[in-house]
Amino acid sequence: MIIKALQREDLAAVRVFTDSQIGAGYYSTFELEDILQRSEKNGVMCSLVLQNPDGQILGVRFSYPPGQWEHGKGMGLEPQKWPHPMAETAYFQSLFVSDSLRGQGWGGRLSRQALERLGEVGARGAVCHSWKESPHNSSTRYLLKLGFISIADYPLYWKDVHYNCTRCLKPPCQCTAVEMYLNLKRHS
Ligand SMILES: CC(C)(COP(=O)(O)OP(=O)(O)OC[C@H]1O[C@@H](n2cnc3c(N)ncnc32)[C@H](O)[C@@H]1OP(=O)(O)O)[C@@H](O)C(=O)NCCC(=O)NCCS
Repeated sequence: MIIKALQREDLAAVRVFTDSQIGAGYYSTFELEDILQRSEKNGVMCSLVLQNPDGQILGVRFSYPPGQWEHGKGMGLEPQKWPHPMAETAYFQSLFVSDSLRGQGWGGRLSRQALERLGEVGARGAVCHSWKESPHNSSTRYLLKLGFISIADYPLYWKDVHYNCTRCLKPPCQCTAVEMYLNLKRHS
């Protein structure tokens, strides 16, 4: 299993993965192109994929450097509660690992490598919208392990995203997002 930088040639396989693991239609091919472009700054690609020896995508960690994002998929962000301004804050867009590989630390490995890259391009903090109802509470648990803290809850955060959530099965998605923040410069 390897972790590598996202490349344009991966996008078709990434779409197959996100449709099956996040929900059909969550990301369009157009959005994945947009993610690819937003993820790179000063030649550093901050979005990563987990690939098996056959080239199959089994995990994605999409992340945007500071200055290259405005909001998540839904509405709700409280920058006034963050220790660093938006201009110095990265965004953790999506992390998914194939269900057969969950609970083995791959999500943490993908995220730590992404945080290193985000630090190289000037991030002093990272924010994300955690999926409160994720299976086994895996979303909040991996974020707490990395040091993220909860900022705010947004019920029905994904209600306007037209996709078949794997939990709700059809739109509108009823799930809640938890805004969580990681201070990368606590000790400097
Ligand atoms: C969230 C996710 C990417 C984390 O990646 P991962 O490789 O599973 O991460 P970890 O191995 O560190 O596991 C995270 C936690 O989930 C729990 N977990 C994950 N899969 C589990 C399973 N099948 N059974 C029981 N617990 C499980 C682990 O116990 C672990 O918590 P702990 O270390 O406190 O015990 C992955 O579990 C996943 O894809 N989940 C569904 C999608 C999701 O919620 N994505 C985040 C959206 S914001």
